[in-house]
Amino acid sequence: MAHPLSRYRLRLLNDFIRIAFVPFLIFLFILSVLHVRPGFLLLPFYLPFVFSCALVRNFYSDYHRRQDAYARGAKLPPQVVGRWPGNLDVLIQRRRAAQSDYLAEFYHELFQKYESTTLNLKLLWIDMYITMDQEHIKYITATGFDRFWKGRLIKEMVEPFLGAGIFNRDDEEWKAHRSLARPFFSRDRATDFELFERYTNTTLTIISSLSASGKAVEVQDLFSRFTLDAAAAALFGTELDSLRCALPVPGQSAGTRMKIVTTDKFGSFAQAFEACQDVYMGRITKGYFWPITQITHDDMTPHVKIIEQCIHPMAARAVERKAERKRVGMTSAEKQDVFLDHLAEHTEDPKHIQDQLLNILLAGRDTTSCLLTFITYFMALYPDVVRRMRADIMEHVGSGVPTSENIKALRYVRAVINETLRLFPPVPHNIRETRHEPVVFPKTDGTFGSPQDNDSIYMPANTPIMFIRFLTQRNQALWGSDAEQFDPDRWLDDRLARFLQNPMMYTPFNSGPRVCIGQNYALNQATYFLVRLLQRFDSFTLAPECQPEGSLPPQGWKHGRGRQAIEQIVPTAAVSTYVKVCSTTSHHVPSYSLIHYFFR
Ligand code: HEM
Ligand SMILES: *[C@@H]1O[C@H](CO)[C@@H](O)[C@H](O)[C@H]1NC(C)=O
Ligand SMILES: *[C@@H]1O[C@H](CO)[C@@H](O)[C@H](O)[C@H]1NC(C)=O
Ligand SMILES: *[C@@H]1O[C@H](CO)[C@@H](O)[C@H](O)[C@H]1NC(C)=O
Repeated sequence: MAHPLSRYRLRLLNDFIRIAFVPFLIFLFILSVLHVRPGFLLLPFYLPFVFSCALVRNFYSDYHRRQDAYARGAKLPPQVVGRWPGNLDVLIQRRRAAQSDYLAEFYHELFQKYESTTLNLKLLWIDMYITMDQEHIKYITATGFDRFWKGRLIKEMVEPFLGAGIFNRDDEEWKAHRSLARPFFSRDRATDFELFERYTNTTLTIISSLSASGKAVEVQDLFSRFTLDAAAAALFGTELDSLRCALPVPGQSAGTRMKIVTTDKFGSFAQAFEACQDVYMGRITKGYFWPITQITHDDMTPHVKIIEQCIHPMAARAVERKAERKRVGMTSAEKQDVFLDHLAEHTEDPKHIQDQLLNILLAGRDTTSCLLTFITYFMALYPDVVRRMRADIMEHVGSGVPTSENIKALRYVRAVINETLRLFPPVPHNIRETRHEPVVFPKTDGTFGSPQDNDSIYMPANTPIMFIRFLTQRNQALWGSDAEQFDPDRWLDDRLARFLQNPMMYTPFNSGPRVCIGQNYALNQATYFLVRLLQRFDSFTLAPECQPEGSLPPQGWKHGRGRQAIEQIVPTAAVSTYVKVCSTTSHHVPSYSLIHYFFR
């Protein structure tokens, strides 16, 4: 079945019964006790009644939770208290902050205001935990892994798009995906330098010719194409050629969204792929009650149809190829070069193949292009860093093609990558949910609370928690007072000890059983690209004059905190981190957008 029943409608119905219908029955009951005949005139009484019921229910569940927490030797974290009922003002502020504030500053201010690294946002009376506490993140992702899962909230938002893929499943199903996908991204694949060279070459050719004619390069757009084409080759075995399509012209194509202009099926595939992420982000910003806007139609489905039209025939061909291999007597143990064929060895269900492909494409594309975008941004800001990277490369690689051995020797380049992933983690936060049991976080020393001191934090069952590594990785309490400075040397001098003693303060690739399986792949691909780039260019400049209006940092930031005062671009986040490129307020998808660096 291509589109599983949209569970969110059922959920909404359930919520409706709980919030409005049960009070309705109670209301009727009260009326009958009072011998009042029901009628429309009573509507003005009914609505406040529903509201009061919500308050009472909320009050009761808070009370119950506090008792349960104490009984377990724990306490509730501070709860954000807004001015309006249901913290509606906080919800609105958050939306506004996502459009105009420095990335995650909204959350940072809340953590400071309530003097706690874990909080309950409590939006519209619904529990929503946020944390930047490395110990809590450790418990969620590693030591207490079994007590959490991806959860209902996220699943129902992306079901049509990511379906039964690795990102969207838990337990046995997830394990099966993971053991299927992991071998493919093993060492062999992660060092597929032939493939890296092919797309690096095309990308550098574009940069060379633009720079030869003194033009600026839109790096974010270019890197999205680079990683998309490389991913398509490795996953589908297809030339997507987005690098050969018309590139956006710096300063002219401001604000347009989809930059893949081809109308062939791959062009529309790429667009549909982004549109799905767009819809997903919209759902997240609307919050818990997003399905109200999608009762009659699911915004995601039309885009998913386009994706299907593209992938199903490829999946079918892969299944044929498998039959062909069997016929000529090849064993399935032989290594498959293309992920699609690797999948077809294990399943013939085209929907299953599609889900897996899309999940990996999502995981691997924007993340790596984000890394490259922010590294080159820092390279443009700090010429001295470029000089040292080049020296590192000249010493260990020279001017030839890099090998996996000499990539390992590039310590300074790796420190630059580490430092970039620290300040701008491509995945700035993740969301998990407690299962059907409440959770008590261990205390800092690893022990659990005792009934005398209610020191550990308590989380109710079925409650989402967002962990914001973006803030953990800039926390001065962990990194020292220079936490917001870009300084690759912190990975090479005694400051490294801080990280070695407390590895959870830096988790760009996540940690625990769901740690990223593409880590080596991504690091190798990015390093390979940087080596080739730096063998050719020695100076990088930002070209703010080419940047579209509204995409430069607002004046007020000059007096802001930390990096705000020095930032030359506006970092923003959708599913992954990206550079803001236009002034429109729609939360559109990062890729194919504009930022211009001059490569000279
Ligand atoms: C700089 C690049 C990358 C970064 C920073 C990154 C980061 C992450 C993070 C934070 C997660 C955890 C997400 C969550 O649990 O919700 C993750 C998961 C994952 N990543 Fe990456 N990733 C990168 C590149 C890649 C690449 C290139 C691939 C594959 C080609 C990949 C494949 C995956 C997969 C399959 C998962 C899901 C693992 C699971 O749920 O068991 N990633 N990645
Ligand atoms: C790309 O490859 C071709 C053929 O190997 C080579 O002549 C050219 O110099 C390469 N271009 C870049 C930018 O590396
Ligand atoms: C980079 O970070 C990793 C952890 O992700 C660490 O093990 C490694 O030592 C760091 N290396 C350098 C050179 O910074
Ligand atoms: C812990 O909770 C109990 C309520 O069960 C309360 O009486 C006690 O004062 C609390 N202890 C601390 C240290 O807050």
